[in-house]
Amino acid sequence: MGTVEEVRVSGQLSMAKPTRNMQSFQVIQSVIITFMRITSNCTAAALKDAATSLINGNLVAFPTETVYGLGADATNEKAVARIYEVKGRPTDHPLIVHISSIELLDKWASEIPEYAIKLARTFWPGPMTLILPRTELAKDFITGGQNNVGIRAPSHTVALALLKAFEEQGGLGVAAPSANRFGKVSPTSSQAVTDELSNYLSQDDLILDGGSSEVGVESTIIDCTGDKPTILRPGAVTIEMIKDELAISMGTQSFTSAGNQIKASGLLESHYAPNAKVLLSGTPSPGDGYIALINLPTPSGAIRLSSPSDNNDYARTLYSALREADLAGIQKVFIVAPKNEGIGIAINDRIKKASSKNKP
Ligand code: TXA
Ligand code: MG
Repeated sequence: MGTVEEVRVSGQLSMAKPTRNMQSFQVIQSVIITFMRITSNCTAAALKDAATSLINGNLVAFPTETVYGLGADATNEKAVARIYEVKGRPTDHPLIVHISSIELLDKWASEIPEYAIKLARTFWPGPMTLILPRTELAKDFITGGQNNVGIRAPSHTVALALLKAFEEQGGLGVAAPSANRFGKVSPTSSQAVTDELSNYLSQDDLILDGGSSEVGVESTIIDCTGDKPTILRPGAVTIEMIKDELAISMGTQSFTSAGNQIKASGLLESHYAPNAKVLLSGTPSPGDGYIALINLPTPSGAIRLSSPSDNNDYARTLYSALREADLAGIQKVFIVAPKNEGIGIAINDRIKKASSKNKP
């Protein structure tokens, strides 16, 4: 039998269910936590243990507001090497280092432009990653040998509490790619992480459950190594938000590797792909999957996988809908793209990359 975890939160006691004894790793379920209300003598024991586990070189998958991440101590080469193994990811693809706040930024990044500080102060903690020149702490095994490093402070309460606990134990940053096999759809629930990675994790690794990811698509990645910030991967922090709130002028954006010097696996033409074939035009036949905004009716015989009410809902449900298609053995999924504005830009980027897998 696995262990039973207790997490005490501001007078609220959440009893986690026993972990599955059929599997060789622990799943801590129902970690209910209100970060702002944690007091020093009322901390989440499970998260403290998870942080210790990271310090000891194990992997901890954890929820973030974007997607679930597969975490390791970003200063531990062996632990980071296991991330690559578990994901099946090429080792020259860099990882994002997660920190709890801007205060740890200068441990990892140097020559930080004024606009990057503004961005961090405005959008952290939140769904935004900054690419900055690295310090000595960011070794080649994190940056894929590049001279810059990706840094993010996530806002999910469990992620933040885990990072805080990790930092209290002397940790400086948690490297965490999305907790999926390379090139596949990012997980937005602990069940999806379990489905993706249970065959690859060991008994000392952990998966933390923090419910469904609120945003549903990966963070906006902003290259801050030039005179102007440039969006490399669109996300919930949109170009409009940056322009409106900060009056910062932006560099020319390109979301593919062809348009960028910087290496980023999410910039590959084909990525974020389910097993099913993703089609962005044409008419579904009976038995095919269908994803579209709620106002569009389901074509006759098609299997409706998601009916989002707006673009935020679309982002939140897209990956779980694609996973559902695979679980149901659906061969083709037809997706009606939302308008290419706001977070719709991120959705269009991901579905385009998901559909590229099918191209010759
Ligand atoms: O929302 C997110 O960003 C999630 C959660 C877990 O934080 N993480 C995530 O990580 O999506 P990953 O590794 O699946 O995607 C990060 C992307 C990759 O395409 C990687 O190549 C790129 O960011 N990246 C990381 N560090 C970079 C760097 N120093 N320079 C350029 N690209 C970088
Ligand atoms: Mg990823």
